[in-house]
Amino acid sequence: MPAALKALRRALAASPLGGLVGSLVAIRRIWDRRLWQNTVARSAVLNGTSLGGECYVCSDAVLSGDIAIGAYSLIGVGNHLIGGRITVGRFCQFGPHVGIYATNHNLGIATIYTGPAIAAGALRKEMTSEPVEIGHDVWIGHGAIVLPGVNVGTGAVIGAGSVVTKDVPPYVIVAGNPARELKARFEPSRVEALLESRWWERSGAELSERLDWLRTPLTRISSAKTVTPQTEIVPVREKR
Ligand SMILES: CC(C)(COP(=O)(O)OP(=O)(O)OC[C@H]1O[C@@H](n2cnc3c(N)ncnc32)[C@H](O)[C@@H]1OP(=O)(O)O)[C@@H](O)C(=O)NCCC(=O)NCCS
Repeated sequence: MPAALKALRRALAASPLGGLVGSLVAIRRIWDRRLWQNTVARSAVLNGTSLGGECYVCSDAVLSGDIAIGAYSLIGVGNHLIGGRITVGRFCQFGPHVGIYATNHNLGIATIYTGPAIAAGALRKEMTSEPVEIGHDVWIGHGAIVLPGVNVGTGAVIGAGSVVTKDVPPYVIVAGNPARELKARFEPSRVEALLESRWWERSGAELSERLDWLRTPLTRISSAKTVTPQTEIVPVREKR
């Protein structure tokens, strides 16, 4: 920035008008980040992102595109969610350095370059976009990458370091590059009951009163860590 402009900016900042403009900018920032409902680290960058309430966005996360994060979800340190359209459900937890991408460079034209040196970045318009949808209560391990067009079902787990190239069904654990199904978390009838319960539609406060229900031990499939098999899953019913 030229010295004269810097001096003008300093003079403006010192004046009462500068104070007012500064306050308005600060209010705008708070408004953009809806900080009264969500917690967003100062170093996080949010463009075109809506946060559903009581979300956490950790330091150095970059969320840019047409991004909707459901209530109570936690976006980890250094996550990159770059759209296109990316939808994340409620009560999701992403470990550090997760990448979710809804765009690809266009491989079918003469160049894949989209940078500013050519026509001020006009080739960015050539990028292709496929929406990514992440269900509710999804846990994504450290450094995993979800590629464009992938849907991850509710209750799914993505192992650390995975590259997810295909849809992941609800309550399935996947890992590896490319990610492959390790196992279903529960037998199909349990999965059905959990999906039917739609517990994630409740508020955190309501669910806090149902800790016992949330802690219900269910039989894990193909796992040595099997726990009691006979617990009923009671749907979370709407309060009248
Ligand atoms: C995916 C995960 C949840 C699986 O846990 P699990 O169900 O207890 O699985 P197991 O440890 O029984 O492993 C089952 C098999 O999958 C393999 N596996 C487990 N995690 C893997 C991963 N991330 N990538 C590749 N393979 C993996 C194991 O080596 C094992 O293979 P084998 O059957 O050939 O021996 C866990 O390994 C993981 O990646 N957790 C993420 C931890 C993390 O990132 N924490 C920070 C964020 S909060």
